[in-house]
Amino acid sequence: MDKLLIEGGRRLAGEAAISGAKNAALPILCAALLTREPVTFTNVPQLNDIGTLLKLLGQMGVKVSRDGDAVTLDASVIDNPVAPYEMVKTMRASILVLGPLVARCGEARVSLPGGCAIGARPVDQHIKGLQAMGAEVQVEHGYVHAMVPRLTGARLFTDMVTVTGTENLMMAACLANGETVIENAAREPEVVDLANCLIAMGARISGAGTDVIRIRGVESLSGTTHRIMPDRIETGTYLCAAAATGGEIRLTRTSTAYVDSVVDKLMDAGCDVTSERDAIRLKAPARLTSVSIRTSPYPAFPTDMQAQFMAINAVANGAAMIRETIFENRFMHAVELQRLGADIRIDGNTAVVHGVERLQGATVMATDLRASASLVIAGLVADGETVIERIYHLDRGYERLEEKLAALGARVRRLT
Ligand code: EPZ
Repeated sequence: MDKLLIEGGRRLAGEAAISGAKNAALPILCAALLTREPVTFTNVPQLNDIGTLLKLLGQMGVKVSRDGDAVTLDASVIDNPVAPYEMVKTMRASILVLGPLVARCGEARVSLPGGCAIGARPVDQHIKGLQAMGAEVQVEHGYVHAMVPRLTGARLFTDMVTVTGTENLMMAACLANGETVIENAAREPEVVDLANCLIAMGARISGAGTDVIRIRGVESLSGTTHRIMPDRIETGTYLCAAAATGGEIRLTRTSTAYVDSVVDKLMDAGCDVTSERDAIRLKAPARLTSVSIRTSPYPAFPTDMQAQFMAINAVANGAAMIRETIFENRFMHAVELQRLGADIRIDGNTAVVHGVERLQGATVMATDLRASASLVIAGLVADGETVIERIYHLDRGYERLEEKLAALGARVRRLT
């Protein structure tokens, strides 16, 4: 299993380009199931999760062609509306085929995703919403089996803000009979990017980006070409890496528009951040000031940046409080950061981080995607070498990480 070796103690400097967003590309690729016409997506990141999803769509009968960061999908024929356990277990976002398949085919069999390192992550709201739209849903033998001749528009209220729940129900409602209203909807930029793609396909959607989304169902959708938005979590991760190493970088093909709450906190920590039309510059002080964070749905501070901020606070001046309100088990990285010499105390969903002068390189283990990003940041700062095991987690969400870090002056290499 691949490992990553990082020689720490070098400040990052230079330029790197941000890739397309994993969490926008995943639902948007599933939207292709809603039309019989070919759709082309550009700026699609080359990630393991995307590869898994394309395989999943292919085994349903979708014709998949890829050329660099462009993907064309032709779902004119779907002869197998099934998402098997073997594929879903490797990537829980596969649940995003459920809504489009039920809407398009009137039937779907999708394996339940099961739990993951950061929490139980049930999909009850996805199912509840489809049932409210008239689908008959049975959960048996580990599969969600949904059937309905045609979905009917309904007023949906999700018990909590759920990103993929909102995306699944919004896609399903596009071909429903009548109007659907999703209340307490997720406002994430990825939801808006999906809505924009669906609207370009002929869907009638209003209110994306707010907590009330209205969808008037249509008979059919058409093909389109859509460019995937930049990855705001990748953006935030590189900004944190530069901040923690006292560096000065410019990130291109991205913008502060999607990372306001993150940039605010980095400026509170003493960074100088400037926004350009299609780029971000960050200049860090010699040592950061500790900043406390509380994760919450967009536009508040993203849970997918919590681990990275734990890493930067580990070497900042002062103490920080980190409160995780979205997932019940998202502090796995804390014990690994402690192995590098960090001073972190956990109490339930709150962590208190006392900044230390220096971290020391060691061997650590990645437990999930964003936890592994926090270990990379800590490894860039630590004295000596850090070896991160199980980096397949990183490959799920960061495109060409070693190459981009090397372009910023880091000494990083993969051990196979
Ligand atoms: C999306 O996951 C992202 N994944 C996650 O990013 C991100 O952490 C999360 O949103 C929150 O921002 C993708 O977009 C593919 P939720 P999702 O449904 O949609 C509970 C990364 O690192 N809930 O918004 O699965 C749930 O357990 C990943 O890129 C239910 O109880 O998250 C959680 O506590 C990790 N029942 C909360 O709601 C449901 O039916 C929010 O989860 C649905 C959710």
